[in-house]
Amino acid sequence: MKEKFLEILRTTKQNVFVLAAESGDQRHAMTVSSVFSVSLEPMSMAVSVNQSASLHDILTVDSKFSLNLLASDQTEIAEICSGSEEGQIRFEHSDWEFSETPYLKSAQSILFCICRKIVPLYSHSLVIGEVQNLSHSGKMNPLIYQDGKYET
Ligand SMILES: Cc1cc2nc3c(=O)[nH]c(=O)nc-3n(C[C@H](O)[C@H](O)[C@H](O)COP(=O)(O)O)c2cc1C
Repeated sequence: MKEKFLEILRTTKQNVFVLAAESGDQRHAMTVSSVFSVSLEPMSMAVSVNQSASLHDILTVDSKFSLNLLASDQTEIAEICSGSEEGQIRFEHSDWEFSETPYLKSAQSILFCICRKIVPLYSHSLVIGEVQNLSHSGKMNPLIYQDGKYET
């Protein structure tokens, strides 16, 4: 049944985001697609983060993170942020900006969030963030992931 479950998930078209955060001298970014909007009042988002991901342990209630919705020409960044090299090396791309929270200036849209709740569940944690600021390019051409590959 697990195989069929995975097959069903592979048929879905997923938007691809890069989740980024920093805490002290640690800075992490990772590709995520288990992302959804939770509410409009307040504007909030949820993302499911594997507890084994490097970024997981720097997220705490009241910490800040960015959710960067990738554009269709940003496969390279998605691959870097889900590849085997982790940590600072993922930020060597020139599209990163570093303010209080790292973000990708070239992303189609950016949601700047403050973490309100972390719900550990099975292998993952549901991270709920309230949107404090945002940036939208106006474009409607997000990067899509389906059946283990990116649609460009
Ligand atoms: C398209 C795509 C979507 C992904 N979505 C998620 C996700 O929603 N949550 C998650 O925990 N990992 C997700 N991953 C896996 C992480 O990006 C990957 O494990 C990453 O390397 C974790 O960061 P780390 O190596 O610094 O631990 C996804 C990977 C890809 C390629």
